[in-house]
Parts: sequence; structure tokens; C-alpha cells
Amino acid sequence: IISNLGLHWSGSSKAIADVERPANSNKGMYGHVLVIGGSSGKSGAPAMSSLAAMRSGAGLVTAAVTPSVLPLVAAIAPELMTHALAVNPDGEISAGNLHPERLEALLKRITVLAIGPGLGTEPQTAEFVLGLLEQSRLSAVVDADGLNILAANPNRIAAIAKGRTLVLTPHPGEMARLAGKKTAEIEADRINIARDFATKYGLTLVLKGWRTLIAHPDGQIAVNTTGNPAMAKGGSGDLLTGMVAAMLAQHPHDVARAVETAVYLHGLAADITVREPGIGGDQHTLLATDSLANLYRAFH
Ligand code: APR
Ligand code: MG
Repeated sequence: IISNLGLHWSGSSKAIADVERPANSNKGMYGHVLVIGGSSGKSGAPAMSSLAAMRSGAGLVTAAVTPSVLPLVAAIAPELMTHALAVNPDGEISAGNLHPERLEALLKRITVLAIGPGLGTEPQTAEFVLGLLEQSRLSAVVDADGLNILAANPNRIAAIAKGRTLVLTPHPGEMARLAGKKTAEIEADRINIARDFATKYGLTLVLKGWRTLIAHPDGQIAVNTTGNPAMAKGGSGDLLTGMVAAMLAQHPHDVARAVETAVYLHGLAADITVREPGIGGDQHTLLATDSLANLYRAFH
């Protein structure tokens, strides 16, 4: 029945994460993820996305954040690199980052962009994000405030989606803003809304929540089977953003399976953590960072 509806389960893609790395691997083979996010009071979101990207096998990860939160993000892990975004006098990300020299320095050697966690939606920030997505053809994952910026500029989405791998990871509220509907309408018709949006723009849409859907640009849909209500807590989504970016960085020619695998393993890490004794081992106590610490058990 499932396949007759054009649906399949996300777990069928997980094999790409089971492949052993060649002995002569080097970090250049596994891509460089650039996380763009963070703002005053929201340093944790880009930090968690960056950590999740590193823990999911990306060769290199850089977090591009405002100077005010940069030391906090940098301190989360010594393996993480940081880039200070130009800010306006209010400390918000400035469209001045689009200056060709700054942009080139930022994007040289990057494989995948992960845009949005904790970003804010101020006009200058929005213009930077839209301009960046329009001027580069890098593969991109857009989440959180990155989605809110797209939702506020629907006439620019088609040009951004064209000619690149683009993955959007909305929760139902963000999907409602993107689709111009109410959240309840999204929840009542998740499959059709996700498929219509993905095929309309030729992008991959990850509609989160219980049984996250992954809608591919060709209209195929994967249904995720992992994850649990303990994940209904701030931070869970930020992990997924980094995981999707890292899987894309490692599997640029296998986008569908890369995204499905990231979603599957993200939920599985939380499932493993809540069901066993230990830190986070209860539906009430689980933190996103507990799942992150257990990510190896999902991958293994
Ligand atoms: N069953 C399975 N998975 C779940 C469940 C559930 N009952 N509840 C949540 N999840 C998963 C989702 O599928 C998703 O992967 O947890 C993750 C939650 O992601 P988000 O809703 O994006 O939450 P998060 O980003 O961590 O925190 C909320 O996000 O977009 C911003 O403005 C928003 O500040 C808010 C923040
Ligand atoms: Mg979120």
C-alpha cells in the first residue's frame, strides 16, 4: 500500500552511512559545511548544528556568526572553525557580507551551506541570506529563520531553488508560513502539501514532526519511522540541520538517500538515548545534546 501511494520508509536509505571509509581517506573527501546562523541570545542553535555536522562525518565545519556570539560558538568544540560575519551598528548581520571579496573569502572551499539556526530575520540579515543563496549555486540546507526569510520573500524562492541542491527543513509552523496556510491545514494534509511544494520548486522538503516526511523534487516521499516525543524540545531541530548538511557534503550525488539517512539517524539517536538508563534516558529529561553524544550508536 505504501509504495502504491508513492511512499517509502526512510530507513531503506541508511545503507549509505554503513559504508566503511577507505583507509586512505582525507578530510577533503568529506566536504566542508558552513553553518550560517546565530544572533544575540541564540548562540546555541548554530553551535548545535555545527556539532551535529562534525559528529555526522563532515570533513570540516565552519560556523559563520556575528562577532557578539562568535566566542561562545567557538568554545563549543576546538575542532570547529569560525568566521565573523560583518554586522551593522546594531550588531545584526549586515547585507555588507555580500561584498564580492567578503563573499568569496567566505565561500571558497565550502561544499554545503546550512543557513538559519538562531539567525534572526532583520531586513539586512534577510537581504544577506537571499543574496547569498541567489549568488552562489552551492548545495544548501535552510532551516528556522532562514525559512522565515524565504517565507517572507516567496517570489525569490524559485530562482534560489534553480540549479542547485536545496533542502528545506520546516516544522509545521514554518511550513504554514512557507505555504501561506494555517498550521492545522498543514497537519491535516502533510503528504500532499509537502509533495506539492517540493515538486513546484524542484527542492527537497523535510516536513518535521511525528513521522517526518521527506518530499523529493520528483514527488517521491519517504516517511520517517524514528523519533519520539522527547524530541519536542528546543535544540532537536538544530541537530537535524547540521546532520543533513554533513550527509549532503559526503554524498553530493545521492541527495535523496543523504537526506533520508540524516532524518532517520537523527530520530534513532534520540530513540536509543531515551530508552536506556543514563543521561537523557527518559522522555522528560532528554536534551538534544544527549542525543548528539549518542549519535555514534545510531550510526553504528
Ligand atoms: N515525534 C518524533 N519527532 C519529533 C517529535 C515527535 N513527537 N517532536 C519533535 N520531533 C522532532 C522533529 O521531527 C524535528 O526533527 O524534533 C525536531 C524538532 O525540530 P524543530 O521543531 O525545528 O525544533 P527546534 O528547532 O529544536 O526548536 C524550536 O525552532 O524553528 C525554530 O522558531 C523555532 O525557536 C523555535 C525552535
Ligand atoms: Mg527549528
